Amino acid sequence: MSYAIVGFGKVGQALAHAFARKNIKVTVASRRPPEALAPQARAIGPTVVAKSLRDALEADTIILAVPFGEHREVAKALPSWEGKTVIDATNMFPVPEELDGLPSSAVIAKAFTGAKLVKGFNHLIAATLATDPLVEGGHRVVFLTSDDEDAIAPVATLAKQLGFAPVKLGKLNEGGALVHARGRTWGQLIFQDLFKKEQ
Ligand SMILES: NC(=O)c1ccc[n+]([C@@H]2O[C@H](COP(=O)([O-])OP(=O)(O)OC[C@H]3O[C@@H](n4cnc5c(N)ncnc54)[C@H](OP(=O)(O)O)[C@@H]3O)[C@@H](O)[C@H]2O)c1
Repeated sequence: MSYAIVGFGKVGQALAHAFARKNIKVTVASRRPPEALAPQARAIGPTVVAKSLRDALEADTIILAVPFGEHREVAKALPSWEGKTVIDATNMFPVPEELDGLPSSAVIAKAFTGAKLVKGFNHLIAATLATDPLVEGGHRVVFLTSDDEDAIAPVATLAKQLGFAPVKLGKLNEGGALVHARGRTWGQLIFQDLFKKEQ
């Protein structure tokens, strides 16, 4: 599996730290050229490599860590998303009218036509996500939702490799309702920093 993080701000860097901690290779990209991201990438760890957006999108699994409104620009960067897994780590404030009650992940899924979409790594503030997920003998929980059961398993495996405890919450419209951060209606699990003890 190859991994890329698109968006190298607070969440992108938090996740890059998680990859670096476990010596897992990850490409990072944003609208800026790779030379502009490289010093920060190197500072996080040798397995974090800045590339152009186009080159980063060659990865099989792409974590989306851009402002919600920018997802369409990223989606347009590839003619087809067939064969890719997109992990949607975005949240949105405020809720755009276009949503009409749908979870934001449904809008993202539509834009990334053909991709396997998994919502995850979005429910914690970036500063928490950046810290070691191994805490007091337990693993920090991340919630995963997808309409595609087959897509969740490899993302759950990645989450475990990064040291998190993945918890599946079902389909986007079920699980999504528990972890969404939309305007004033926040899901019950958003910002809940939970740990799972070793079984
Ligand atoms: N901050 C949090 O605590 C937190 C927690 C959970 C979820 N989230 C969600 O995670 C997402 C990212 O939040 P953030 O706080 O990390 O934002 P941020 O610090 O503003 O970083 C956003 C990143 O996206 C890049 N970017 C913007 N437009 C892009 C495009 N069209 N193509 C490629 N890269 C693009 C920006 O870099 P360039 O300007 O160089 O392109 C920047 O690196 C948001 O959807 C947010 O709601 C944030």
